[in-house]
Amino acid sequence: ALITSKKMFQKAYEGKYAIGAFNVNNMEIIQGIVEAAKEERSPLILQVSAGARKYARPTYLKKLVEAAIDDTGLDVVLHLDHGENFEICKQCIDDGFTSVMIDGSKHPFEENIELTKKVVDYAHKRGVVVEAELGKLAGIEDDVNVSAKDATFTDPDQAVEFVERTGVDSLAIAIGTSHGAYKFKGEPRLDFERLEKISHMLPEFPLVLHGASTVIPEFVDACNKFGGNIPGAKGVPEDMLRRASKLGVCKINIDTDLRLAMTAAIRKYLVESPDVFDPRKYLGKGRDAIKDMVKHKIKNVLDSSNTL
Ligand code: G3H
Ligand code: 13P
Ligand code: ZN
Ligand code: NA
Repeated sequence: ALITSKKMFQKAYEGKYAIGAFNVNNMEIIQGIVEAAKEERSPLILQVSAGARKYARPTYLKKLVEAAIDDTGLDVVLHLDHGENFEICKQCIDDGFTSVMIDGSKHPFEENIELTKKVVDYAHKRGVVVEAELGKLAGIEDDVNVSAKDATFTDPDQAVEFVERTGVDSLAIAIGTSHGAYKFKGEPRLDFERLEKISHMLPEFPLVLHGASTVIPEFVDACNKFGGNIPGAKGVPEDMLRRASKLGVCKINIDTDLRLAMTAAIRKYLVESPDVFDPRKYLGKGRDAIKDMVKHKIKNVLDSSNTL
């Protein structure tokens, strides 16, 4: 069935593991993810961005996720990723999503609170949970000073006030991760001191890590070897993600690593099988690669196997 993340996060918090939130936009991606979760007996969140809704169209995505639930018997959280205003959150809640993110991180503190609270009020009346974001995602550059970090990263005192005043169910924080395949120019670094402070000040409260792909070199290299051109890509090392999930992080967002896995597999297959023009053949390779990547995440990063 479609469920909320409430109990999932409670269990993950206590067990010091994390739930993978995987971005989806087509059938092969959804199938690869749910097959991996089923085999690993792992909980999961499927999340849909505004761009994904536009690409696949809302009805298709909803029905594909329902089909995945029918087919696997799994309980799935259907989550809106980075809802930028009240209207898209309302639309998804009305469409049957069990979780929405209102991303007011670009607004000043008070406006973020006001917007988030409005979504929380609408969602909670309908049994839907809400994720919000405080702070701006950005890497730590070596030459960035403390005051610049304080201006972008999540302030622990503000986080407490934000959670209290909005009644939000989970909070995405900024501690040095960023979206996409180019997260760090130099050595990867996260502000664990800040994370510890936030999680200490918000006991039992689920934190969310966006921009948490590892950008595994093997997959970047495979893309580049078979005609791609994505030089200098770098992500969050797996040991840092495991460390974060022991410090109150209950949801880890993964999109880029799925994109890289699928693209590497399809590039390789097309180059090695020039006679093939049946989309099922190469999309099938893409689906297998998604499944392998999600299994890898569940086992080596999230530690969520056998927790259902
Ligand atoms: O946070 C962004 C996610 O990776 C979704 O990306 O907006 O290109 O669908 P998208
Ligand atoms: P990545 O780009 O690191 O996969 O992050 C995805 C994300 O945060 C989606 O909201
Ligand atoms: Zn994100
Ligand atoms: Na955790």
